[in-house]
Amino acid sequence: MEVMERAFELEAAGARVIHLEIGEPESRAPDRVIEACQRALADGETRYTDSRGLLELREAISRDCQRRFGVAPDPARILVTAGTSPAMLMVFSLLVEPGDEVVMATPHYPCYPNFIRYCGGEPIAVPTRAEDGFALNPDEVRAVLTPRTKAIVVASPANPTGAVQSRETLEALGALGPPLVSDEIYHGLVYDGVSPTSALELHDRAFVLDGFSKRYAMTGFRLGWVVAPDSALRSLQTMQQNFFISANRFVQRAGIAALESGAESQESLRAACEQRRGRLVEGLRALGFEIPRMPEGAFYVLADARRFGADSRQLASAILERAHVGTAPGIDFGSAAEGMLRLCYAVSEEALDEALERLAAVLPELESENRAGRQR
Ligand SMILES: Cc1ncc(COP(=O)(O)O)c(C=O)c1O
Repeated sequence: MEVMERAFELEAAGARVIHLEIGEPESRAPDRVIEACQRALADGETRYTDSRGLLELREAISRDCQRRFGVAPDPARILVTAGTSPAMLMVFSLLVEPGDEVVMATPHYPCYPNFIRYCGGEPIAVPTRAEDGFALNPDEVRAVLTPRTKAIVVASPANPTGAVQSRETLEALGALGPPLVSDEIYHGLVYDGVSPTSALELHDRAFVLDGFSKRYAMTGFRLGWVVAPDSALRSLQTMQQNFFISANRFVQRAGIAALESGAESQESLRAACEQRRGRLVEGLRALGFEIPRMPEGAFYVLADARRFGADSRQLASAILERAHVGTAPGIDFGSAAEGMLRLCYAVSEEALDEALERLAAVLPELESENRAGRQR
């Protein structure tokens, strides 16, 4: 976020910045989604809904799960939220008491530990490695479980690594005991024919977080959901009523349109991302970044940039100032990602090509400054 704010300052001063630091598709939301939202507003759909969300939307989500995973959760187990983020906050608020622990892979999405700490809990990070495609090892997770472990977070595909965990890994994690909190917001954005397993396929004890932001390019609509175990629904609904009352009614209409008619635009975003992933990874490797394995999902590359600077915040800042290319410093995703940069490839090919050219112009000087710094 600091990189982005500085990038906006540079832009205000006339620079043209290429934004690879942001985690959202550059493309527009599907036309039918925008039309459905406009129609709902024109029809006066501007009031609260049932705090769980419109039944039609929850039914559409259930059908979507059936199409994607062969499992149709009862709409009564679905709570519609104003994005995946509020769902995540409420699920951790429900599960975590002060002193409790929640296990997750690292590198990880920064909000997981932030929310857990906010609830008084302690995030317990299990390292994953670039050489193994950031695969999470269930034995390493088992080794850190304690009586205070209240959940295991799994994100597949993951931000920032793009890692997709295997079905065996998901099954093994699901059998460890604590409930899974499965963040599935990048499902659908997968490449090389990979098909990620949903925690819905394992059992009905998991909390499955999902939303419209990424695969439908609807970040600003703020719409998501959680599929929760029966026993958790009432408490989650009470929190939703108190914190948020309900997600926006007209936005929920847009969500129904996305689920009913968004398949084509989702596939075109996926296919474009697959193409751009190859372009960016190849280009970065040619410039000297280490990327041992191709990320299989989401729209990020987490590249080892230690050749150019060990401190990822300093490096991202130097690249922004000198090349006007925004990148996200690895340290934001946990200490395991220090020395890395995350770059988002959900932007146009022209933007990627130009970013690579600009990087090529500044990396040699950064590399020699880094070497000189190390020798001092
Ligand atoms: C892994 C992950 N989960 C959740 C979110 C939040 O998504 P939403 O826009 O649905 O709140 C993000 C956004 O970047 C993300 O990367």
